[in-house]
Amino acid sequence: MSIVKFNVLTVPEGAGEKLEERFANRAGLVEGQPGFEEFQLLRPVEGTDRYLVYTRWRDEESFRAWLESQAFRRGHAQAAADRGDAPAGHGHGAPAGHGHGDAPAGHGHEHGGPAATDSEVWGFEVVQRVTADRPDAD
Ligand code: HEM
Repeated sequence: MSIVKFNVLTVPEGAGEKLEERFANRAGLVEGQPGFEEFQLLRPVEGTDRYLVYTRWRDEESFRAWLESQAFRRGHAQAAADRGDAPAGHGHGAPAGHGHGDAPAGHGHEHGGPAATDSEVWGFEVVQRVTADRPDAD
């Protein structure tokens, strides 16, 4: 069965649009990663104000390989620059850390500066999965 990894992003009030824009311009590299199955960016509506980055993978190894890949680095190059380090640079395949909440305030540049001030990874095993029995519903 597949696994699901959420990256849970804390986004200051008013910065959601900027975050969404950055994801709209995302590198699109994750699609080509072996074992990648699905990605969704989820905007909070009720119960939380954190954004969820939903990813589904064939197995834990596939996810870890992506974390250590150039594709991950390149897909997060701007986020890393904003935070002053490289997302994969923490080694051990450990998810990129938890953002630091120390993003430099208001140093705007062409990408508009940091959008998320903190992040945390949640991991799950898919136990059951049901989708509508229509080709366009998934
Ligand atoms: C320090 C932690 C992380 C932060 C702050 C962060 C933030 C971001 C941001 C802002 C983007 C949009 C592209 C950009 O602006 O560079 C992005 C892309 C993405 N993030 Fe993260 N991210 C982190 C770690 C992770 C982790 C651990 C996962 C997986 C659970 C993940 C999943 C993704 C995916 C799938 C994309 C799209 C990449 C592509 O198009 O190839 N991120 N992330």
